[in-house]
Order: sequence, then structure tokens, then C-alpha cells
Amino acid sequence: MNNLIDMNRIKYKDYKQKIKSPEEAALLIKNHNVLGVSGFTKAGDSKTVLPQVAERALHEDIQVTVLSGASLGYDTDADLAKNGALHKRMPFQADPTLRKSINNHDVLYVDQHLGQTADMLQSLDNFKIDVAIIEAAFITEEGYIVPTTSVGNSPVFTEKADKIIIEINTTFPETIEGIHDVMFVKKQPNRDIIPITQSNTRIGDPFIKIDPQKVVAVVFTEVPDSPAVISDPDDKTTSISNHILKFLEKEVQEGRLSESLLPLQAGIGKTANAILSGFTKSPFKNLTMYSEVLQDSTFELFDSGKLLFASASSITVTEDCSKKIFSNFEQYKDKLLLRPQNISNAAEVIGRLGVIGINTAIEFDIYGNVNSTHITGTKMMNGIGGSGDFARNGYLSIFACPSISKEGRISHIVPMVSHTDHTEHDVDILVTEQGLADIRGLAPIERARVIINNCVHPEYQEALQAYFEEAYALGGHTPHVLEKAFEWHSRLKNKGSMKSLEVVES
Ligand code: COA
Repeated sequence: MNNLIDMNRIKYKDYKQKIKSPEEAALLIKNHNVLGVSGFTKAGDSKTVLPQVAERALHEDIQVTVLSGASLGYDTDADLAKNGALHKRMPFQADPTLRKSINNHDVLYVDQHLGQTADMLQSLDNFKIDVAIIEAAFITEEGYIVPTTSVGNSPVFTEKADKIIIEINTTFPETIEGIHDVMFVKKQPNRDIIPITQSNTRIGDPFIKIDPQKVVAVVFTEVPDSPAVISDPDDKTTSISNHILKFLEKEVQEGRLSESLLPLQAGIGKTANAILSGFTKSPFKNLTMYSEVLQDSTFELFDSGKLLFASASSITVTEDCSKKIFSNFEQYKDKLLLRPQNISNAAEVIGRLGVIGINTAIEFDIYGNVNSTHITGTKMMNGIGGSGDFARNGYLSIFACPSISKEGRISHIVPMVSHTDHTEHDVDILVTEQGLADIRGLAPIERARVIINNCVHPEYQEALQAYFEEAYALGGHTPHVLEKAFEWHSRLKNKGSMKSLEVVES
């Protein structure tokens, strides 16, 4: 451990006696503790102390509740789940092993709007955080934390926690200082406005102010962020991206948007990344982002000269992109701000800026309801993340996904979604590689026609049209044949395909 210690990164002398190994620091965590940990979509998470808790669970009785910003990197969530160290997890995860434990009821999971965890913690006095574990690039002279690649929920965790463990990660340069913008949002009725009027408005401090008395350990690590793995855009995702660009071009031509559009938000995953990459070849100029995660595509947009500024809560990129950013950091530094997620995802700010939210759906239905989280309505995939924060409050709420997958056995447009994350009231645009449905200002029966005509794969179009006609004949504002609404999902579960048997056999 001694080789790792870089005293220059602890500019507050009282912490120097608190340096511990990850093993020693993890021993400060007790059975049944509630942990608030840094980390947002793999970025800026605890690389050594939290994994040690998983390790301890192999030999002793220890189970903890873990709250984070969003998903954690490497196998931390997997190991915690596999070793039985996890009682409850919130507000987001994206790990296959943990997902299995959640769906088997071995771990409890609270899937929450990412912008709302801090509010919940502030309003529930009895929801204690025993220990906060926060990754830092360094500690300031006042004992405050300069975070690394995410801010997430770290401010509220350190505010609420009884004890704080700081994990200094020496792989990030100290020059990262300045990209963070941390404002503590007060509990109602004393809440102030969040005075962000543009993506680049700075409102807070470049560090997380903490009470130094709470710090019980400082640990060093040199493990980099777990890299994002993103597949290259394919025909489907490129087609989705092109439909969105064409739609936005029309909005500009018709005078509803300017050529710099409005600040963009893009969700996680290959579809969202491909959509954003598509903007490099678009006619738009001087773009900005007010998002929660910055993926590789953000840096492609900077390099193409299309993007002026990006605000988010984390930077989650591939290994190559990370090397590019940190070896040319001065080139990007003034164009970035990382904020706490109750500010990056604040309804107030998203509404004021008029963010264009682009998120990915698991499935959507003929009336525009969207399922982002549950496979066939019951099995948790990842979580809602910030998609609801942006869909409900932005200027435009766009949801995209392929029309079919698994060799056509799944249609992502169904009669009725098997779980609803975003209701028809929060959705403006739906898009697949087949086309785009603009459902703004449309009544349910009008929406159904536009969605079936524009978004559905030809292999499913006739069946969906037949469902709609049968439902329409029964009447109702939002017509359904209740006995048949989930027939497609049942078929997928029982027969392995949403297609009716005649079609499968032919
Ligand atoms: N029925 C059954 N399985 C489905 C399905 C459906 N309707 N839709 C997706 N899946 C499966 C896919 O087949 C794939 O399975 P595989 O890994 O076995 O191939 C898996 O779910 C993921 O789908 P993929 O197409 O690879 O998704 P993606 O990388 O584009 O991510 C979401 C899509 C919806 C899972 C992801 O965007 C997400 O978690 N969104 C919610 C959080 C969010 O929106 N955050 C936004 C702000 S960051």
C-alpha cells in the first residue's frame, strides 16, 4: 500500500493520521450498515473499500444496504450480491448477477428516479446513512473532497452519513479540479431556486464540502474507472438516429427550434450512444448538453466542433476515449461540468432549459406508454435511471428502440406495455429503425394509427393493426381487448416468440 500513498493529495493535515488500507477501512463497516457510495454509471465509484465488504462476506456474517449514484463498475455489485453481502440496493444497477439476485428475491431493490434519491434522504429523517464511501482525486486544504469522474449522490451521502471514508484515486490527475459544480439543495420549505439558466452556468463549489470530523479513513487506490463497453452503431441504430435527425431538421425548418436546438440529454446504452454520434454529421451547430451521463459520443461531438458545452453527473467512457480525454484534458476541461444528480436531473432546471430528452425503451405500446425497466413485465433489467426525470420535465421526450429483436421473436411495439415507466402523458416522439411517430397533440386512437404505421416492423404490423381494430370496435377512449392485451407477452414467455403460432411455423 505504501507505494500508492501520495501525501500531496491530502492537503488537510489532520487526515494524514487517518490513512488506512482498504481492508482496515472496510472493517469500520458493520453488519446491517447503510452505505452511501460514490459512483454513477461505473464512473468514480469505490474501487477497493466496497469490494472489501464483498470479500468479508465470504468469511463472516455481514450484510449491508448500498445506495449509490447509479450503477457501479467492475464486479462490485456482482460480488456483493453473489457473496450474500447485499440486503437492499438503490437507486439503479446494471449488473447481470445482481439483476438475477433481485429477480430471485435474494436482494431487495428500490428502482428510483435518479433525481429524487437526495429528496427522499432529506425527507426521511429515519433513513440513516451509516458510512459514506467517496472516491476523490484529492483533498483540499479545508478537508473537502474533489471528486473524480462523477458527483452523483455524494453530497447528500456525506451530509447524512455518520462516518466518511475517502478513497483517493491517483489515476486521475489533480487537474481534474474545476470540472465539478456542487451546490447543496436545502430541504423544503427552505429550498432555493437552482439558478441554472444555461448548461454552462456554474452555481456551486468545485469540491464537496464535508465535516472533517466525520472522516474515519483515507484510502489510496490506483485502479482506473471500469471502462464502458459500447458496440459500434449498426444499421438499426444508425437508422433510428437518422429518423431523429430528420425530425429535428424539420422542427428547425418550421421555426420551432433553432439550429442549435435546445440542450440534449441522451440515455445509456448502445442505441442512445449511436443516436448522439449521429449528430456529428447533422447540420446543427453550437449544440449543448444538459444530461446525466456523458458517453463517448459527447467527446466525438466536441471533436467535430458541433458541441459547445456539456453538463452531467458523470463521464462514462471506453478505455480509448478515457485516454483521449485525460491526455488532452485542457482541451475539454472548460467545456464540462459535473453536478450532483439532484441538480443534473432537477425538474426545475430541465424544464427551464427545455431539454430534449432521448432515452431507450424496452418496449412501447400503441398508445405511447413506455416500459424502460421490466422484461415481460416482471423481470428487472436495469432501472428507470434518469429517463423519467428528463421525459416528464423536458421540452421534448423522445423514446427509441429497435422495432424487433431476437430474429423477430420480440416486437418492441406491443398492444399494451407489460410495465409502465413513462405514461402516454410524458412521451412526445417514438422511434424505431422503421420510422418515427410524432404523437404530440394526438388523441389515443390517433396515436395508435401513427405508431402502427410508422414504428412497427412489417412482420408485426398486420397483427397489431388487427388488435387495434378489434379493440376500437369495443369502444372506449383508449380501446383495449383486455383478454388479449398481454397475449404477445404470454406467447414470448411460453413459446419463445411473440408471433402467433401460424406465423412461427410458416
Ligand atoms: N423483451 C424481451 N427482452 C428484451 C426486450 C423486450 N421487449 N427489450 C430488450 N430486451 C433485451 C434485449 O434482447 C437484450 O438482451 P440480451 O442482452 O440478451 O441481448 C437486453 O434486453 C438489452 O437490450 P439492448 O437492445 O442491448 O439494450 P440497450 O443497450 O439499448 O439498453 C435499456 C436498453 C432499455 C435496457 C437501457 O437503455 C436502460 O436500462 N434504460 C433505462 C435507464 C435509462 O433510460 N436511463 C436514462 C438515463 S441514463
